[in-house]
Amino acid sequence: MEKKIVDGVSLALSQPISNEIKWVGQPEAMARLQACWLIINSQDVPLCPRLLGKPGVGKTTLAMAAAQKIKKPLYVYQCTMDTRPEDLLITPVLGEGGKIQYHASPVVSAMIQGGVCILDEGNRMSEKSWASLAPLLDHRRYIESIIAGIKVEAHPEFRCCVTMNDDASTYELPDYIMSRIQPMIEIDFPPREEELKILKYNIPFAEEELLRYTVDFLQKSHQLGLHCSTRDGIHILRYSLKRLAHNPEISPKDVWQESVYNVLGFKPEEIEKMAQKNKKANSEKKLSDLSEFFFDPELFLQGESPYFSDSPPENYEDYEEDDEEDDSI
Ligand SMILES: Nc1ncnc2c1ncn2[C@@H]1O[C@H](COP(=O)(O)OP(=O)(O)OP(=O)(O)O)[C@@H](O)[C@H]1O
Ligand SMILES: [Mg+2]
Repeated sequence: MEKKIVDGVSLALSQPISNEIKWVGQPEAMARLQACWLIINSQDVPLCPRLLGKPGVGKTTLAMAAAQKIKKPLYVYQCTMDTRPEDLLITPVLGEGGKIQYHASPVVSAMIQGGVCILDEGNRMSEKSWASLAPLLDHRRYIESIIAGIKVEAHPEFRCCVTMNDDASTYELPDYIMSRIQPMIEIDFPPREEELKILKYNIPFAEEELLRYTVDFLQKSHQLGLHCSTRDGIHILRYSLKRLAHNPEISPKDVWQESVYNVLGFKPEEIEKMAQKNKKANSEKKLSDLSEFFFDPELFLQGESPYFSDSPPENYEDYEEDDEEDDSI
């Protein structure tokens, strides 16, 4: 384990990730991310963008491939609901002879080594943990570890980005954090030709027939707003190929249909029905979110609901005028 002395404290560093990863298609997404990391003037600082998109659309892949393109060591921090500030920064560990050793997280290791850190699934992490990164994510570019009692300055080559799902946010991040993880780079499902290339890149040994079934199915799901992801497509293909290798007597089409069912839980011919169901569930959720907004039980109990306010609304006069008009009718 590599060690570095920072502010007189010895830190054991995390290992960078060495996966070979390629980003296929959507070159604008790659260009946007790389532009954020450029430094164009001696007074300039890099940006820490957030990559936003549906699960399985390729956010983590894009960030990893971008780090590889600029030939920097890559560190990924998997954010979770349980992440504590010390997990993100420096953790004390009991070492040989009962001595405390300090372990630098992937974030701090990237800061020290001048690497790229991906904060993966950033909106699963609480505000408390995000707060410890606030000075790192603006022009100050440092963190303070209370546990190790040190301040760590980021290497000038340090780069960072955050990935976030736009539908599964466990935490609504406060504005002061959101304003530090800018700009937003949205990643959408790729068009047919690109999605086919992605499938071929990830499973180069897949047969054309299965590839065609899969990409047509994925494209249809994107059009219907069902959002089966490229990752789902990769799983469908991979499972089909394994089933065929194991049972060569079954027809590829039957195997593929079974595979869709086993990966997604519905048959390919049910795709329209599933899309309808999904749409209905989404609109019901929106309605229930809206009613929660208007009838917040906490506010209701405290007598602070706008419907129970003693004081007139700010635009009270408008209401009065409206009332008068109503009376005159
Ligand atoms: N443009 C692409 N080039 C290469 N592979 C891709 C591309 N898009 C998606 N993939 C593949 O699709 C799979 C899912 O991608 P990835 O894990 O990056 O998605 P994600 O958006 O980060 O998903 P999640 O929100 O669930 O973390 C991976 O196996 C990845 O290799
Ligand atoms: Mg991801």
